[in-house]
Amino acid sequence: MVAGNWKMYTTSGEGAVLVQDIAEELERELDDNALDVVVCPPFTGIKAVSTVVELDHLNMGLGAQDMFWEAEGAFTGAISARMLTELRCTHVIVGHSERREFFGETDETVNKKVHAVFAAGMTPIMCCGETLATRDALETDSFIRSQIVAGAAGLSAEQAARLVIAYEPIWAIGSGRTPTPESANDVTRAIRATIGAMYGPPAAMQVRVLYGGSVKPENASMFFSEPDIDGALVGGAALKADSFAAIAKAACGK
Ligand code: 13P
Repeated sequence: MVAGNWKMYTTSGEGAVLVQDIAEELERELDDNALDVVVCPPFTGIKAVSTVVELDHLNMGLGAQDMFWEAEGAFTGAISARMLTELRCTHVIVGHSERREFFGETDETVNKKVHAVFAAGMTPIMCCGETLATRDALETDSFIRSQIVAGAAGLSAEQAARLVIAYEPIWAIGSGRTPTPESANDVTRAIRATIGAMYGPPAAMQVRVLYGGSVKPENASMFFSEPDIDGALVGGAALKADSFAAIAKAACGK
């Protein structure tokens, strides 16, 4: 899976153009059933992008970048699952480090959202990742494990198997710095093992674990060649059709 997180970039008009450009670049790859391509525009762009996906019959997933867990109610500014499924959203990013840092997201709210996304028939892309201080203190493994245990708590084994987890070291996001592919794989393997301990070996095998953080066309295939990295969650490089397409093409060989 290669998912593009457009963050707070693109108006709805710009998003419609971007998704068309991506589709043009990936004409053959989108129909490769071994590859899932997902784009995650800001809320205001979802309808326009969804319309392009539908009219052009694109085999592409559509994700939101967040969602509230309640079905409806007096929650000013919030967006519900039904608002997203009506627009044919298939995925929702949950617990991105930027939501944790700037919008008060916690492991507990992440877990509520993961459950609500599944209940609505969509797929959560649940994010985790450590700060540089945590890494320097050699606490990455225990920190990530605690994020997974809390964020993925209370699922059925079948839901755990359908979960997508994005490992995004915070210090690698937008920085141009990345862990070595081997050290990223150490963490994604530990994430898979944690899911295995919680939900059994079939869930561990099927859960998809992505790497995110400064993924570019130049480094994508190094990450994809690691056994426990099943794809990428891409930020900056997802905002240009040619670089996003190059990353998706690198994933095709996986
Ligand atoms: P960059 O690819 O810009 O580092 O962002 C990664 C990310 O946060 C994707 O969710």
